[in-house]
Amino acid sequence: MSPRLARAAGRREVPLRITVDGEPLTGIEGQTIAGVLLASGRRAWREGPSGSPRGVFCGIGACFDCLVTVNGVRDVRACARRARDGDTIGTQSRAPQDAR
Ligand code: FES
Repeated sequence: MSPRLARAAGRREVPLRITVDGEPLTGIEGQTIAGVLLASGRRAWREGPSGSPRGVFCGIGACFDCLVTVNGVRDVRACARRARDGDTIGTQSRAPQDAR
């Protein structure tokens, strides 16, 4: 999967802003959080138990590889949750030394 933003012809794009670990990112209303992250060039934003990078794997809400914290709520699937203007996203880790 290549990270890029595909624009829909004839559809009005409403911009939105989210922060990811304090970094501001822009997206378009209707994008998932994973879509905003991928369009910004990120391919991984979580660590598995072994410390290996995780991001989008299935893209349909089945594998839970893309988990993030959204507005303080942990374990939200980034591929299944649409980004909303003002969302505060935190990355997560399951690596033992980073248990948070
Ligand atoms: S990528 Fe599989 S649940 Fe999100």
